[in-house]
Amino acid sequence: MRDMTRATIALLMSRVAFAVVTAASTSPPVSQTPPSATSGVAQDPFPNTDGRTALLRVCGNCHTAETVIQTMRTRQEWSEVIDQMARFGAEANDQEFEQILTYLAKHFSPIKINKATAKDLEATLDVPAKVAEAIVAYRLEKGEFKTVDELKKVPGLDSVTIETRKARVVF
Ligand code: HEC
Repeated sequence: MRDMTRATIALLMSRVAFAVVTAASTSPPVSQTPPSATSGVAQDPFPNTDGRTALLRVCGNCHTAETVIQTMRTRQEWSEVIDQMARFGAEANDQEFEQILTYLAKHFSPIKINKATAKDLEATLDVPAKVAEAIVAYRLEKGEFKTVDELKKVPGLDSVTIETRKARVVF
């Protein structure tokens, strides 16, 4: 706990320092790229669920929205990032910040398939509670998952769900 706190503080400090350096040395022009919701180009990295619009508008101001999703983060980590961005001057109301947090946690967080609680799996995999509980039950019975294929054996967990999220699965 102590270590975590220290690490978090160190991280925050390095980021602030970086931000100051970035701002001082280059002060990049604030370019706002309009969300290209309609361009049917292959592979829009932003799934179209609640929070997408808010994210593209609020978080695409100082850097691109794509910058935001380069690294997967847990819900807690996303929450810290958003707080920091608010301090940097990101403008949104509480509801929008909450929507953005939910959106990022849902689509851009690691799925810790062997460690997560059913509640966590429900959120990160975006599956019903019953399915999340089935994953945990399967894990308890058979031991840790080692491959995506093994996951497909969990009753009630459909393979499309797994296929579309497998890049985020951490064993
Ligand atoms: C007022 C300007 C501003 C806005 C608006 C803004 N950011 Fe940032 N953001 C920054 C700056 C400056 C940095 C670089 C400093 C750093 O690395 O922390 C940054 C960096 C980041 C990074 C780190 C990128 C990396 O290297 O992994 C993430 C993630 C991020 N922002 C997320 C967000 C999210 C989410 C939002 C919307 C809620 C947002 N930002 C809105 C200023 C902003």
